[in-house]
Amino acid sequence: MAQTQQVKRILVIHGPNLNMLGKREPEHYGSQSLGAIDRSIKDRARELGVEVSAFQSNHEGELVEAIQAAVGQIDGLIINPAAFTHTSVAIRDAVLLLDVPVVEVHLSNIHKREPFRHHSYIADVATAQITGLGPAGYIYALEALAEMIA
Ligand code: DQA
Repeated sequence: MAQTQQVKRILVIHGPNLNMLGKREPEHYGSQSLGAIDRSIKDRARELGVEVSAFQSNHEGELVEAIQAAVGQIDGLIINPAAFTHTSVAIRDAVLLLDVPVVEVHLSNIHKREPFRHHSYIADVATAQITGLGPAGYIYALEALAEMIA
């Protein structure tokens, strides 16, 4: 935990294909681009007085490395591992390196979709899961984390 810092830092990690938001299956993921989502997270962070940085990658190893690099540097993590939610022991193990609250976010409700999306390798190592609330889910995750780490 980055206890000596004044301003609390939250990292937002987006997994594969989320860079295509706005163009990708809008019936599941809506019409907002990832840039617009990140901007609204950062606007809300400013209001809450926390610092947010956001990272997206289509590569599992890059996501693992981003989490590793955050160890001891952040006060909370918001992560939408996208398809890796359902496959990645490596991302789960990386999340276990953190000793800060972690909120898993999904735009769509993964439990209402195909059976292979019902299982998350992250859910039981996260503090909470927000699924099915669209981009607002990131804002709720941020608000919850800001309160938890205040
Ligand atoms: C997702 C749900 C995943 O099943 C899917 O692979 C994604 C996005 C969501 O935000 O709803 O890419 O994580």
